[in-house]
Amino acid sequence: MSLFRSRRSFKPVAMDPARELPRELLTELLTDAHWAPTHGLTQPWRFQVFATLPARERLAAGLQLIYDAITPTAKRDPAKRAKLAASPRSAPVVIALLAHVQPGGKIPDWEEIAATSCAAQNLMLSAHAHGVASYWSSPPAATSPEFVRWLVLDETHRAMGLLYLGYASPSAAVPTSTRLPLNERVTWHEV
Ligand SMILES: Cc1cc2nc3c(=O)[nH]c(=O)nc-3n(C[C@H](O)[C@H](O)[C@H](O)COP(=O)(O)O)c2cc1C
Repeated sequence: MSLFRSRRSFKPVAMDPARELPRELLTELLTDAHWAPTHGLTQPWRFQVFATLPARERLAAGLQLIYDAITPTAKRDPAKRAKLAASPRSAPVVIALLAHVQPGGKIPDWEEIAATSCAAQNLMLSAHAHGVASYWSSPPAATSPEFVRWLVLDETHRAMGLLYLGYASPSAAVPTSTRLPLNERVTWHEV
């Protein structure tokens, strides 16, 4: 089956936290991401890489602080809060994905976010080609302006969630996934 169709989202809990990704491999994946298409060559993607345990612990604590700050008391869920910290401990690499936008500039925000999404897909497909599992996660804590500020970035950045990378645990089964019949998503214009 093709690379595109066999890529699966692996939850961080299914990744082996003890098996680190070599820095050269991580750089290779990021370079593939960096070659995504971009209107006006603005290259709007920004990758903040957390690839050591201390860095991932700091991220875990930061996400919980942001969760507490942005979640109304009535909606707080201890399980969701715990998962925000557990996931960065499970995966050996977490990348905070951000798009840089230009308020009032020539390229609208949606194009910069679309280009950054292309970079994310490049990264996930490159990971898959190298036998590395990936998972894009978008909890409110990691897509909020508060997260942008926590990363010490200004308001011209949009947080687009977290990309988890790691080798699948030997015991982890490859997740299954489905898609609707293609003809439910394609309209052929014949005339
Ligand atoms: C922009 C984006 C955000 C996502 N956020 C989440 C998320 O927060 N939680 C989650 O379980 N999966 C998330 N996913 C992954 C999807 O759940 C996953 O792609 C879908 O289940 C299909 O599985 P597959 O990628 O293995 O085909 C996200 C995917 C994308 C593209």
